Amino acid sequence: MPRSLLLLAGLLGALALLAVVGDLAMRDTTRRWFERDVDLRSRLAVGAARQSLEQQWSSDPAGVATTLRDITRDERIMGAAACLPEGKTLATTELYPREFSCRLVLERRRQEEGSLEHWTLSTELPSGPVLLSVLGVGAPPGSLGEVVLVHDLSFVQRRDATTRRFLIASYFVLALVTSLVTLLGARFAWRRWRREMLRAFSGEGRREFQPLVRDVRALLDRLAHEHGHEARGGSWSPARLRETLARYLEGERVVILANREPYIHDKTDNGVRVLHPASGLVTALEPVMRACSGVWVAHGSGSADRDTVDAHDRVRVPPGEESYLVRRIWLSEEEENGYYYGFSNEGLWPLCHIAHARPVFRAEDWAQYQAVNQRFADAVCDEVDSDDPIVLVQDYHFALAPRMIRKRLPRATILTFWHIPWPNVERIGICPWREEILTGLLGSSILGFHTAQHCRNFIESIDAFLESRIDREANAIVQGHRRTLVRPYPISIEWPVHWLDQVPPVDECRRSVRAELGLPADALLGVGVDRLDYTKGIEERFAAVDALLAGHDELRGRFVFVQLAAPSRTKIPRYHELNERVEEVARTINARWGQGDYQPIRLLHAHHEPATVFRYYRAAELCYVSSLHDGMNLVAKEFVAARDDGLGVLLLSQFTGAARDLTEALIVNPYDTQQAANALAAALQMPESEQRERMLSMRRMVAEFNVYRWAGRMIIDAAELRRRERMADRLTSWRGALALEHP
Ligand code: F6P
Repeated sequence: MPRSLLLLAGLLGALALLAVVGDLAMRDTTRRWFERDVDLRSRLAVGAARQSLEQQWSSDPAGVATTLRDITRDERIMGAAACLPEGKTLATTELYPREFSCRLVLERRRQEEGSLEHWTLSTELPSGPVLLSVLGVGAPPGSLGEVVLVHDLSFVQRRDATTRRFLIASYFVLALVTSLVTLLGARFAWRRWRREMLRAFSGEGRREFQPLVRDVRALLDRLAHEHGHEARGGSWSPARLRETLARYLEGERVVILANREPYIHDKTDNGVRVLHPASGLVTALEPVMRACSGVWVAHGSGSADRDTVDAHDRVRVPPGEESYLVRRIWLSEEEENGYYYGFSNEGLWPLCHIAHARPVFRAEDWAQYQAVNQRFADAVCDEVDSDDPIVLVQDYHFALAPRMIRKRLPRATILTFWHIPWPNVERIGICPWREEILTGLLGSSILGFHTAQHCRNFIESIDAFLESRIDREANAIVQGHRRTLVRPYPISIEWPVHWLDQVPPVDECRRSVRAELGLPADALLGVGVDRLDYTKGIEERFAAVDALLAGHDELRGRFVFVQLAAPSRTKIPRYHELNERVEEVARTINARWGQGDYQPIRLLHAHHEPATVFRYYRAAELCYVSSLHDGMNLVAKEFVAARDDGLGVLLLSQFTGAARDLTEALIVNPYDTQQAANALAAALQMPESEQRERMLSMRRMVAEFNVYRWAGRMIIDAAELRRRERMADRLTSWRGALALEHP
């Protein structure tokens, strides 16, 4: 037999032996890995819920049950139980296996002298293998009792099988490739090949293989994890977001920078009341912050805000279920006028929205904007607890802050999200300080927009006005060794919406809202919910109602459109004018079609708390979102979330980001009054079966693409970027060291 074939046979034999030994070793190792992984996750889940559990333990067993339910949203946890020290059951989740009663589990832990802090038991149920994680609650651990989590490990068996198939296939491919290389080597360069192999496996060559091995290991790690996530299904929850944060970013505390605070304390005649501001930003980010904890740095704008903070200007929120901090920054009237009303809302807001309002840029506003950005950036740097924190910078109020933060914290991961549209190059060119705005934003690690179009507009703006390299394939802006990823992350709402816990079912809302408005039970109701802003198309919306009534006399006296309009930015003249115009249009239409008590437009010009807004969503036949230009618009998603009866029709402007997500809405051009009027009529006549089909599909979409996914995706991308940057740093120092070793 030729020498090369002998060698080949020998090699294949050795590989087969390796495969068998490797498979045996792998099976045991992967099982241990998965058990460790699952157990670590349960510690994280209970750790994150520990505070609420301890608060609820003695006084609120129903609250404990709800917290356990939250923990078991991870579909690999079959069930959870809260056990009192004497073995009694305080609460369990629905699917908690009866075989593991508190008494039995605690008894077994005692027999095995397991730690009160944390103990695990690997065992079997008829359905397959399970792992029990038992974690002590209270200080010292176990003083209040213990939480038992039962994990379904049958997926490990499935994974084992997949891993084995993958290993066998890999060995097979490896063997094949090796054979080919061997044959070719034998034929063409036997001696040279042998010399090279010897060199490679001797100490001389080993170093070259190491980076490769590390990379392959990292890649496998990532694939295994991503695959795990897919297998678990796409539902994102607060628990999964917490886990993602802990896994990818080592659990550092998150600091959010946003102008608007999530809770405003206001003085009233009856004492201090807490307001929840009408802001898409707050709607989206508040649940994220509840899930992640940390600090929210914001402008303290309430009349009782100063009375409710501690000596460091911080207040714990949400009231009654404190889980994170709001750090309030006080602004003088001059600062607020220049930074908020002036540059942000008379300059950038109209610049970024196509809504026919002329941007006003004043040098004194710009000076305040710069100074206030610096003040907020400094406050963020004071709040972080490491030199590489995670900072979430929000919106157009803080275009300069990312660079300012980066300057003080070069290793920070800064995720900036621009909640409004990013305009095209011609429009951004209007801003006298466009270069400064763009440079400021490039301090971010990731810059997020609602849509891919806004990302493209931003990249084109960089191309037009700044010197920097654009990596178009990766959608990144490269400056020196730093890059800013520019990505679309369509924002969303929490799912399920916690406000709905306080809202009665649809039938009750229909009845009470009609009674409140003095309408007959069979009145047909449309609803609009907005800040009173010229971008929202409220005049156009009323014009469509006018055209609807003009074309449908059967609806006169029966159809009522309720507009909940929250006062906004009232110091700005453009908003004043709008206020007057909207009231005037409503008056004219009511005069045209109203009779007796009947008024087709009900303009409720006041701040409405979220629970009230959700009652109106539930009471209405339809909701009309008619924005002339809107980054996303979360009212549309909230309406969908409210309608758990599957009914109700959403009319949605084609100029909102939401129109890309909610394609089963009736999509309209708000400028086309007749088209919008026809859509209103179609909504009122739509058969229930069609309403259900559309609504259920939109509900699936919003449930799946909720705000936890939005935040999770940004965090995962940031972690990936951070890993690459750190690897690049290591490579640079490695090369430096090599250069020193072998000059
Ligand atoms: O996306 C939500 C948003 O439009 C923000 O851009 C804006 O900051 C907020 O709602 C509400 O405005 P304000 O904070 O000025 O009340």
